[in-house]
Amino acid sequence: WDQQFLPAQLRLDDPLRTQKVEARLARLVLGGEVLRRAGEVFERELERGLKEQPSSLQMENTYVPELPDGTEEGVFLALDLGGTNFRVLLLELRAGDLVDQRVKQYHISNALRLGTGEELFNFLADCVLDFLTELGMQDQEFSLGFTFSFPMKLHSISSGELITWTKSFKCSGLEGVDVAALLQRCLRARRLRVTVRVLLNDTTGTLVAGAHMHKHVGIGVILGTGSNGCYMERASRVQHWEAAHERVRDVCVDVEWGAFGDNGCLDFLKTEFDREVDAGSLLATSFTFEKYIGGKYLGSLLTSALSALARAGLFPAAPAPDSLQTAHLSLFEEENCSGEVSRTVAALREACAADVSAQDALVAQHVAHVISNRAAQLVSVCIACLLRRMDRPHVAVAVDGSVFKHHPRIADLMHKYIALLAPHHPFSILGAEDGSGKGSALTAAIAARLAARDA
Ligand code: GLC
Repeated sequence: WDQQFLPAQLRLDDPLRTQKVEARLARLVLGGEVLRRAGEVFERELERGLKEQPSSLQMENTYVPELPDGTEEGVFLALDLGGTNFRVLLLELRAGDLVDQRVKQYHISNALRLGTGEELFNFLADCVLDFLTELGMQDQEFSLGFTFSFPMKLHSISSGELITWTKSFKCSGLEGVDVAALLQRCLRARRLRVTVRVLLNDTTGTLVAGAHMHKHVGIGVILGTGSNGCYMERASRVQHWEAAHERVRDVCVDVEWGAFGDNGCLDFLKTEFDREVDAGSLLATSFTFEKYIGGKYLGSLLTSALSALARAGLFPAAPAPDSLQTAHLSLFEEENCSGEVSRTVAALREACAADVSAQDALVAQHVAHVISNRAAQLVSVCIACLLRRMDRPHVAVAVDGSVFKHHPRIADLMHKYIALLAPHHPFSILGAEDGSGKGSALTAAIAARLAARDA
């Protein structure tokens, strides 16, 4: 069983070099037993988080108590902030289906990502004004769903505070601030008749969008710049409620697994490469787990491991800082799958400014594979644990994010590892394209339905 978790073997012409490379990477290779242990720690942290005891898992109540039922109707605005681009969307739903959408992407400069929170939110509101003005709709009334893909302390379906920035954002003065209220204030200041009805995480959006596609969806996962998941938990197991909930059976919980291990509980997995990536990151010593999985970090892990091999004389030269991205990791994996090396060689020659042979390219492809395999294993540990908890006859897992979409074999690896880790829990994996946008509009419609019912 333990052996089934091992990555594909490296086979170089020189067996001694093969052996040395493998020895250098050994700590990145996780067997079934280590993963089982990680799963036990995850389960323990999850239980503690739900009970509001100290834990690296926040287990945030999203206050989304039901999934789409096919009656969702209307025109909604959605904002999506968290990944590479900021997007404003106008979506029209009819009987739960997305029948029309307009989308505009806005670039968020580094100055804005690292400036003050007020500046950032004023910029977001300016984008909404620009978007609606272009459509000639700046005077119309809209309900808005705000997908804010950062850890929040939610107080209701439409309000919540930022806990901490992650990924490539670090604006001052926003921690502890209700981001929905701040956005609302900035929109009002521009005389827009837009009401922020829903504040949600991208995993929630993905779960909701997935649930519209497949009736058994119960887990939403993002494998993109960052990584995180949410799932439908029994309401009775969730301690934190700031609203009446006697009649609620299940509720969507945002796990925030990017922070898993921030309290040291996963240190048995940490390698020298992880330490180096963390030290060089924008938000060092936080979001430990995300740095093993997220697309923002996989390229840096590749650079770190190749640099170590170069120092040991096993690779021609260290890649220049930031020269290798997650897209390179995907490219190396793609060529590895098809037995080619030409594009790997070309990319490495540029990144390392050195002569790189076909054998060297095989080494880099192997490193990419070992890192990808570990990322797939770790995300599978979390999903397998959620499947066991939910204990349903079948659960579909809705997944979105750039790594999931562009990595040539992450989906297959996840299939394999989830099945090995939760053998008695049937599941399927569903690509939920644009969960953040569509999910946001669907959640706004669900919120409208709940409000009408309560009125
Ligand atoms: C980070 C955020 C989390 C989000 C994930 C994926 O982990 O903290 O809220 O879901 O990135 O975008």
